[in-house]
Amino acid sequence: MTTTMRTESNRRSWNAVAPAHQSHRPGQAAFLRAGGLTLFPEERELLGELAGLRLLHLLCNAGQDTLSLASLGAAATGVDISDEAIGIARQLSEDSGIPARFVRADVYDYLAEAAGAQFDRIYLGYGAICWLHDLAGFARGVVDILAPGGRLALMEFHPASNMLSPSWRLAHGYPQGGALLELDGVGDYVGAAGDGLAPAGFAPGAGGFVNPHPCYLYRWGVGEVVSALAGAGLRILTLREYCYVNGERPFDAMRPGEGRRMYPPEGAPDVPLMYGLAAEKG
Ligand SMILES: C[S@@+](CC[C@H](N)C(=O)[O-])C[C@H]1O[C@@H](n2cnc3c(N)ncnc32)[C@H](O)[C@@H]1O
Repeated sequence: MTTTMRTESNRRSWNAVAPAHQSHRPGQAAFLRAGGLTLFPEERELLGELAGLRLLHLLCNAGQDTLSLASLGAAATGVDISDEAIGIARQLSEDSGIPARFVRADVYDYLAEAAGAQFDRIYLGYGAICWLHDLAGFARGVVDILAPGGRLALMEFHPASNMLSPSWRLAHGYPQGGALLELDGVGDYVGAAGDGLAPAGFAPGAGGFVNPHPCYLYRWGVGEVVSALAGAGLRILTLREYCYVNGERPFDAMRPGEGRRMYPPEGAPDVPLMYGLAAEKG
């Protein structure tokens, strides 16, 4: 199977799951219109002040974070391969009255077409890196469309957490080298997260979703991500690791904390569950 075939299957898989995800998040437009933000403090800190900045949100899914970034004053563009997710994002922009531009495109096609654009901030996160088959090419594409002094911010699930089973046992090797992972399809993780991924209010929505389209992920270690960005000429400003996870409940018995943070069970040792970085173009 070629990379192009895998990307197409991924597009179908994300298209299939998008309405199920959205069924759990009614009231988002009113929430955003009233000034609500779906962002977490960690990515806001990495991005810094946004007022008046040209911001690109890559792999933006249904656009609620893109619109939150626009609410903070950025001129925001969101890019995603899923027709359904981009359709939901455009509707959300209209219904919330928050302007943003949404582009439906494969990220590599977009980066090639946008070469020469000048973004002050590029953001991606929460399950974005795992869809990139060519990390070095991605990093070069990002550098090409960052303005001088512009910044990339990344907020991701920590690959070390992929070594654990749902019951916190060491079960897998460290993800590296873009190793391919085939799954039955993107699941309804929004439904599984309860209000963790639905700050505007959670609804039971679609139950028992089964994705008919398999998906293909690429597993990269933190060192590989940092090296690809540095190798493309970005200066790493900060790299942070967090022993909690925002929003999702990827493991058993997670303890909810303030601000939709999920912590390991009582007594469990600290494990890095997310990492974030900011990198600057000189
Ligand atoms: C887990 S979501 C990212 C989370 C997102 N930041 C949010 O706020 O919900 C992954 C997204 O990547 C998109 N995606 C996967 N492969 C892609 C590709 N090759 N080009 C562009 N988008 C892609 C999917 O459609 C999906 O919306």
